[in-house]
Amino acid sequence: MREPLKRGGHPLGPGILAAGGLLAVLLWSMSAQSPAQAAAPPQAATPTEEGIAEEVPIESNQACLECHTQPDQTMMLANGETLYVTLDAAQFASSVHGAEAVVCRDCHTDITAYPHRPLEAQSLRQVTAANSQICQECHEGEAARQMDSIHAELRAEGNEDAAVCADCHNPHYQVKVEPRARIPVTCGRCHSGIEQEYRLSAHGAPVYTDEHADSPLCIDCHGVHTIQDPTTAQFLARSPQLCARCHADPERMAPYSLNTDVLTTYVADFHGTTTTLFARQTPDQLPNTPLCIDCHGIHNIQPVDSAESAVIKENLLATCQKCHPNASQNFSGAWLSHYTPSPEHNPLVYYVGLFYRMFVPVTVAGMSVYVASDIGRQLIRRRQAARRKGGK
Ligand code: HEC
Ligand code: HEC
Ligand code: HEC
Ligand code: HEC
Ligand code: HEC
Ligand code: HEC
Ligand code: HEC
Ligand code: HEC
Ligand code: HEC
Repeated sequence: MREPLKRGGHPLGPGILAAGGLLAVLLWSMSAQSPAQAAAPPQAATPTEEGIAEEVPIESNQACLECHTQPDQTMMLANGETLYVTLDAAQFASSVHGAEAVVCRDCHTDITAYPHRPLEAQSLRQVTAANSQICQECHEGEAARQMDSIHAELRAEGNEDAAVCADCHNPHYQVKVEPRARIPVTCGRCHSGIEQEYRLSAHGAPVYTDEHADSPLCIDCHGVHTIQDPTTAQFLARSPQLCARCHADPERMAPYSLNTDVLTTYVADFHGTTTTLFARQTPDQLPNTPLCIDCHGIHNIQPVDSAESAVIKENLLATCQKCHPNASQNFSGAWLSHYTPSPEHNPLVYYVGLFYRMFVPVTVAGMSVYVASDIGRQLIRRRQAARRKGGK
């Protein structure tokens, strides 16, 4: 964070400036109330003919707001879209920027008088992007990180729709502490299909109802300003660790009574082992064994006992069949899932395991006693033989 931009003095001095500003405001408010203006359709609240050429003082939001709080003002952009130019002064004043004395002209550095300089942006999209250039002046860190993100990359390739600062942060009304549910809604403005799925998922649903602090938001899995392409082999191979950050954390999972062995059992399983090896040996190749998301889904993860869950018994076989097309009911039924065998889960495997756990040590102990006594016997025999020789 840098200090707000330095505000240059004006050669004419503040007194004249303020007077000029006042005059500007006065003239504007007169013209704004002229019958011609009032009769104009809302989309065409175009500038008055008798525009005000005086410079607007840099320190004063008042001059800008005198005009920009007039209700329902709009302007037509070159491509025919309508830009809404009315602001809520109170909401601006209580925003992070308004509250920290960041003023209109700190961001709108190119607007010094009315009529404003001709607008270069041709569309709403370009208005948002052009005005977002200024953010980096005060938020260098976020801007530098954002430069590495998939959105910046896509924009560099010509995708105008990819997000810029002002898509995710309302520059005029951004508040310090946003409700958690606002974040997926922000992403959902452009990724609406995904947000729809997320809203109905085990992760998303509680976020919207009670701001659930433990459930992952989009940014917990994708990052904030450093969002990467999630379809690369690297991202996918690391994804089990992403889930495990929460799901292997007993403290975090305690309120939900969810099994926290999900990662260890996954890695111990042939599937996880292969994925782990894959990530080590060939980081650029997509793993072909199932990741957590292949069985559970991604944005549509359901509670495992929901009828819609991809892993509930009734649907599990179909999930396995995505990769094991010839699998039958026994195939998925015989799988241990995330359970370490116990008398409740897979008792047969548990007792066979228990048998081996008891049988092996007993056998080894028995063998050791046998070997030790055998060596002992050999030693005694040798010593007796030596004594016999010595006795002669
Ligand atoms: C005299 C009235 C008036 C004053 C003062 C005024 N504006 Fe405007 N502004 C307008 C009107 C009307 C529009 C709609 C487009 C047009 O007529 O130029 C507009 C459009 C804009 C736009 C969107 C289009 C563009 O050109 O970027 C921005 C941003 C803007 N004003 C910012 C400001 C800022 C910042 C100030 C104070 C430094 C300010 N305005 C002062 C009347 C005013
Ligand atoms: C923190 C920087 C910042 C400050 C401070 C700021 N603006 Fe803006 N303004 C922007 C950005 C960014 C946009 C483009 C928003 C968009 O189109 O999504 C914008 C757009 C506008 C527009 C065009 C309509 C719109 O909402 O897109 C008007 C009018 C405007 N600002 C007026 C003002 C006035 C008046 C003030 C002071 C009360 C002000 N701005 C303060 C950054 C700022
Ligand atoms: C003139 C300097 C300046 C400019 C330009 C500016 N900001 Fe800020 N911004 C600030 C200050 C000062 C704060 C309040 C102090 C803080 O929280 O870091 C702030 C706070 C914020 C916050 C909240 C930070 C938090 O901790 O919650 C966000 C988000 C933000 N700005 C986004 C933007 C965006 C997006 C733009 C471009 C449209 C922008 N800013 C342009 C100075 C600026
Ligand atoms: C795709 C959406 C998105 C874009 C684009 C984006 N941000 Fe953010 N930003 C967020 C979210 C979400 C948070 C809140 C993070 C949190 O609550 O942990 C945030 C937080 C912030 C903060 C608060 C401090 C921090 O780092 O957490 C600042 C300041 C900020 N952003 C500035 C910017 C600036 C400047 C840009 C453009 C260079 C930008 N953001 C682009 C989504 C975005
Ligand atoms: C202004 C629109 C916009 C907003 C807001 C936005 N995005 Fe995006 N994002 C895009 C566009 C456009 C793409 C290009 C790919 C596409 O069309 O899905 C993209 C791509 C992505 C990708 C990469 C997809 C791929 O297939 O490579 C991820 C991940 C992503 N966004 C996450 C987020 C998250 C998380 C948020 C909220 C913090 C967010 N986006 C907010 C427009 C946006
Ligand atoms: C629990 C972690 C998690 C959460 C929460 C999450 N994602 Fe994802 N997302 C992923 C993973 C993993 C992938 C990669 C899936 C693949 O392509 O195989 C992905 C893929 C994507 C993609 C690119 C692929 C596509 O389907 O277009 C976008 C865009 C995206 N996510 C946006 C979002 C948004 C927006 C949200 C919030 C509404 C969100 N994600 C929440 C884990 C998550
Ligand atoms: C081969 C498919 C498969 C893979 C891979 C997989 N799971 Fe599961 N998962 C299941 C099945 C089936 C269940 C339901 C177990 C039951 O209740 O019988 C389940 C249950 C769960 C549960 C609920 C546990 C509970 O206590 O109810 C969580 C959380 C979970 N898995 C997370 C993960 C994570 C994290 C990963 C990756 C590290 C993962 N799963 C990998 C199939 C899979
Ligand atoms: C930020 C922490 C966090 C991350 C990251 C996370 N989860 Fe979750 N997950 C939760 C919480 C908390 C719940 C319980 C939500 C509730 O029931 O209110 C949950 C619920 C689930 C459930 C439903 C369990 C049940 O039966 O109720 C499954 C399955 C699951 N997660 C799988 C995954 C997978 C797969 C990933 C990785 C792609 C993942 N989670 C990433 C926190 C997380
Ligand atoms: C994303 C694809 C995928 C999904 C989904 C999947 N598997 Fe596999 N599975 C594999 C691959 C690849 C191997 C081979 C691993 C190796 O050879 O190391 C494998 C190996 C196995 C093996 C070892 C024996 C064999 O046939 O090679 C069993 C048993 C198995 N999977 C069971 C299951 C069960 C049960 C499910 C459903 C709960 C399931 N798999 C879902 C890809 C998948």
